[in-house]
Amino acid sequence: MPVHPSTTVHVLNGPNLNLLGTREPAVYGRATLADVEDACRSTCDRHGLELVFRQTNHEGELVTLLQQAAGSLGVVLNAAAYTHTSIALADAIKAAGLNVVEVHLSNVFAREAFRHHSFISPVARGVICGLGIEGYRLAIDVLASSRAN
Ligand code: DQA
Repeated sequence: MPVHPSTTVHVLNGPNLNLLGTREPAVYGRATLADVEDACRSTCDRHGLELVFRQTNHEGELVTLLQQAAGSLGVVLNAAAYTHTSIALADAIKAAGLNVVEVHLSNVFAREAFRHHSFISPVARGVICGLGIEGYRLAIDVLASSRAN
């Protein structure tokens, strides 16, 4: 658990994002999840924020990670395919009172229709999609600017 929850950003990644770099590079690019983590860490360092960075392929574990983010500055959530299916994740965000920025590497609205619906968006502060790794950086910038000084 982070030492200072109110200055901690949780970046949570869902299923198959562990395969970034080799997974459908035409859609997701060549950057690996380690590259995403490096980008998040340097952005958090620049803002003086702590970072918790996690990836899981399991929906229930994502629920637990969201619950554990209660009291944090905010969450950058790429729930991957669970975005389009999971009421449990939306409930967890509401239950924990989280400040969530939903992020997708790809432009989900330029893809299949089943990716156009998100259970996360109605309970998120905002959504960034289609900007690759840059979306994670921007999401952290937004959370940092909401920090009480
Ligand atoms: C994704 C988009 C989702 O539709 C997909 O299921 C993913 C990744 C993205 O980052 O572009 O796994 O969240």
